[in-house]
Amino acid sequence: MSELVSFHEIQTTDSEALKTEITNSLLQKNASLSPKFLYDNLGSHLFDAITLLPEYYPTRTEELIFQEYADSITQAVGTNRIFIDLGAGNCQKAAQLFSQLTPTHYFALDISVQYLREILPKLQGQYPQIHMAGVGVDFSKKLLLPDAVPKSERIFFYPGSSLGNFSTIEAIDFLKQIKEQACDGGLLFGIDLMKDAPILYQAYDDPLKVTAAFNLNILRVVNHLIGANFAVQNFSHQIVINEELMRVELYLESLQNQVVSWPGHQRVFQVGERIHTENSHKYTLNSIETILEEAGLQSQKIWQDPKNWFAVIYAK
Ligand code: AVJ
Repeated sequence: MSELVSFHEIQTTDSEALKTEITNSLLQKNASLSPKFLYDNLGSHLFDAITLLPEYYPTRTEELIFQEYADSITQAVGTNRIFIDLGAGNCQKAAQLFSQLTPTHYFALDISVQYLREILPKLQGQYPQIHMAGVGVDFSKKLLLPDAVPKSERIFFYPGSSLGNFSTIEAIDFLKQIKEQACDGGLLFGIDLMKDAPILYQAYDDPLKVTAAFNLNILRVVNHLIGANFAVQNFSHQIVINEELMRVELYLESLQNQVVSWPGHQRVFQVGERIHTENSHKYTLNSIETILEEAGLQSQKIWQDPKNWFAVIYAK
């Protein structure tokens, strides 16, 4: 069935621009790497493993909400729409809704097109009536869609609290772009709500060290992208729960004084010095309403789990 699924690749940054972007972020006083580099093929598989951890509650909690409120969600979103999955990964969350939402088209966007090539053909086999396409694109700066996406009632799907990787300003900008391209459709998305620190610690620093592997893998990705010589064993996964900024921060901490180099550049890391790799923002219903409003969107309906740990929202 694989020949039925078409794949598009939208090039947003050439490899030189990518090298400049990574070099600049590594040479800052406080070094950082964009979380989008966590998701090469291995990183996508490691993230899948995270979602299976008992400590990582977001995926499971969101899934429960989708199951419990499938009818109500379908009523709010409508059937036979153009379904656009932002950061599709293994496509399971979208697929869960297919039987009820019966979309005419399914566009799976992900930065890792290689991973989509593994996943989508099988899904197409299961749902032959849906027009499916995989799109390899980094939409984190600009939401570019292929021309093949019909311009009618598009439903953007952004589950998993992925919005939480953005700062507030970036989130508003991203939501504005969705609003502009929704063609009278809307946005179905999931957000993680602020909760007690111990629960967050377990979820983002699990005892099996899967999240550590996921975080450290970014160094292998960067070695590959810019020809750097990061030694993965010389760094360790660290998290900070930033209550004030309502987010979990992920870092890679240097275990020794070391020099990392790549063509034309080098960077000294002192022991204890950190590379910031991800922010995972947590929200309140009020804080997310404010962000939606700033983007010109309004929540139509909100669904939550019994513990109020997570919220699924339909906005337009
Ligand atoms: C995919 C960004 C929603 O923030 O919980 C999981 C990524 N990082 N464990 C999250 C992640 C560490 C995840 N998001």
